[in-house]
Amino acid sequence: MAKRKAEGYLSGKEARRISRENRKITNELEKKRKRKKVPESEYLTKMHDPNNAVEFDNLHTYFFTDAGTVKSVDGVSYEVPIGKTVGVVGESGCGKSVTSLSLMQLLQRPQGQIVEGEIRLNLGDKAVDVAKMPYEAVQHLRGNFVSMIFQEPMTSLNPVFRIGDQINEVIELHDGEGKSREDMKKRTIELLEMVGIANSEGVYQMFPHELSGGMRQRVCIAMALACNPRVIIADEPTTALDVTIQAQVLDLLRSLKDKINSSIMFITHDLGVIAEMADYVVVMYAGRIVEKGTAEDIFYHPAHPYTIGLMASKPVVGRQVDKLYSIPGKVPNPVNMPDYCYFKDRCEMCVEKCGGEYPCEVSISPTHKVSCYRYYEIKNQEGGDVS
Ligand SMILES: Nc1ncnc2c1ncn2[C@@H]1O[C@H](COP(=O)(O)OP(=O)(O)OP(=O)(O)O)[C@@H](O)[C@H]1O
Ligand SMILES: [Mg+2]
Repeated sequence: MAKRKAEGYLSGKEARRISRENRKITNELEKKRKRKKVPESEYLTKMHDPNNAVEFDNLHTYFFTDAGTVKSVDGVSYEVPIGKTVGVVGESGCGKSVTSLSLMQLLQRPQGQIVEGEIRLNLGDKAVDVAKMPYEAVQHLRGNFVSMIFQEPMTSLNPVFRIGDQINEVIELHDGEGKSREDMKKRTIELLEMVGIANSEGVYQMFPHELSGGMRQRVCIAMALACNPRVIIADEPTTALDVTIQAQVLDLLRSLKDKINSSIMFITHDLGVIAEMADYVVVMYAGRIVEKGTAEDIFYHPAHPYTIGLMASKPVVGRQVDKLYSIPGKVPNPVNMPDYCYFKDRCEMCVEKCGGEYPCEVSISPTHKVSCYRYYEIKNQEGGDVS
């Protein structure tokens, strides 16, 4: 019994207690979110920098599960500047999708909840804090200001409706005032042509199963861009595609972004794609940001041992190796995070202080920040400030 307990075994009584406590917390949070006609002043805010489209500030998003609280996003702060692409990289399960779902308020309810922090979204003439917004108000942001391209197009398209009708619906919901059916069809055909679908009239009448994977993904992109959003979240949009189609989709995203001057949050495992697309890169590990900087900072001067490992595990054309590098060990249990640096148990570059509390962020250049004790010493020698 003692052994089973050590492995995270929960007795029925404990599980019931956890679920009771969870319900209390989530009911409270849900009640607040479900309120109707909340005055705008409650969630209006100011951007710290008006050149940013989104600012995540100390965001905490938890899942209250029966096995315990999963701290999927645990104090994440970064900015997405207007007209730029920010690449978000990190191991599977590190919280990349949950961060972007928090911005859209599309978390699985009632377990998934934003419990702390701010997500400031720049709407042009004003700014709102999405973390404080009730569901009713967020509905107006989706599509118009923020939209999302999902990883798997087949699961985001409805198999029983024609492509044209699905895109029309998006336009009708978000931008449909005063538009006739003909106007909407015209806009849909225009969108299909914009994403490079040649037979747009034909595709308008088709069902998703009649299209190839690349075409479906283009349809999803067309849908996401239907209302010229300011922020496009692309969550691994090319993972399901072969490399030639992938290159086309990336080109398409880049040119469309410039056309409507929006910002892109680009989430992927693929460092090659990031190198091609991103202006800034954020590296996440176990729900926290371990390093952030410009794409050049991260690719040419990786600082955190995890980023260094990621870069070393990337195949390089022309370099012969027997075996690609892989980072040893595995991510800690999300229900039971250690109180020291989350990467310590896998790190091959530890210093003496690493057993101490979680390291805070150190600036190693005006654009480059890292959370690692190795840089405290360098900073201390320079007489810099560690915060
Ligand atoms: N509905 C949910 N209920 C409980 N836990 C969840 C739920 N959704 C996500 N999580 C947990 O949150 C953590 C972060 O998940 P997330 O989907 O953000 O990972 P990710 O970085 O996007 O990974 P991937 O690269 O595989 O897409 C994971 O540990 C996951 O188990
Ligand atoms: Mg994901």
